[in-house]
Amino acid sequence: MNDLLVDLKPLSNDWRLAKGIDPERLPAHIAIIMDGNGRWASRRNLPRVAGHTAGIEPVRIVIETCARIGIQALTLYAFSIENWKRPRTEVDTLWRLLRLYLRRELPEIMRNGIQFTCMGRLDGLPSPVRQELEAAMDSTASNRGMRLNVAVNYSGRAELVDALNAIIEDARLEGSLKDLHITEESISSRLYTAGLPDPDLLIRTSGEMRISNFLLWQIAYAELYVTETLWPDFRRTDLLQAIIEYQKRDRRFGGLNAGPQRADADEWLEAVGVTAR
Ligand code: FPP
Repeated sequence: MNDLLVDLKPLSNDWRLAKGIDPERLPAHIAIIMDGNGRWASRRNLPRVAGHTAGIEPVRIVIETCARIGIQALTLYAFSIENWKRPRTEVDTLWRLLRLYLRRELPEIMRNGIQFTCMGRLDGLPSPVRQELEAAMDSTASNRGMRLNVAVNYSGRAELVDALNAIIEDARLEGSLKDLHITEESISSRLYTAGLPDPDLLIRTSGEMRISNFLLWQIAYAELYVTETLWPDFRRTDLLQAIIEYQKRDRRFGGLNAGPQRADADEWLEAVGVTAR
């Protein structure tokens, strides 16, 4: 957090927001559905690809801010398996932007010790894109700072299918297929996110109340934060606000937090006729 504060103007809006964040209760993992690029463009009478191009700046800002605050992992949803249904020019532009981003930002990623990973069905990517992503993963593999994880050719259901098939294949190779017993741990350990903590905070921009096939398993207890801001307009202020909102949430993970318990529950149950043991 101090890394961020030193660069902010004292008493500025972002400085006040950053001061309001408890560094002891940061989300370990933030995941973001970057939505609204198309709407941002059409509101300006621009082609959709202009929205995606404008979406690069918030990507840069969010990565830098998360790294400075001390977030352990950031997962960005850049391209879903379903996105192949979009026009060819739009899909090509998204690949071009991803490559451009990597080329431009890799030195900064290295300076900040960020470890870059991609998750999804990487075999289905155009080979120059795949090669470039793999080269970036290789060159940042020994970095020990924030993990930047980009979802490309990703879908949560496909991830679960791949995890289950991998478990079955492991058992087949070990000759233990007939005794195979699947557990939550065995599934988690075969997801693309194996080794990462589950996201604590899932941010979605542009107001849609949907999960869109993103991290279906991992977000079981994530706090959801949906903002009307369109992705190209998302800035450091929006991210700090999301973290502040996250810190106000009462996370119970299906249990109860300490608080006074009523002593008259049995009496009440009897009065309403729920007495069977
Ligand atoms: C959703 O907006 C956004 C995408 C499908 C692509 C996101 C990609 C980027 C921000 C750029 C590249 C990413 C990286 C990590 C460098 P939409 O087109 O669905 O918007 P709409 O719902 O308004 O149509």
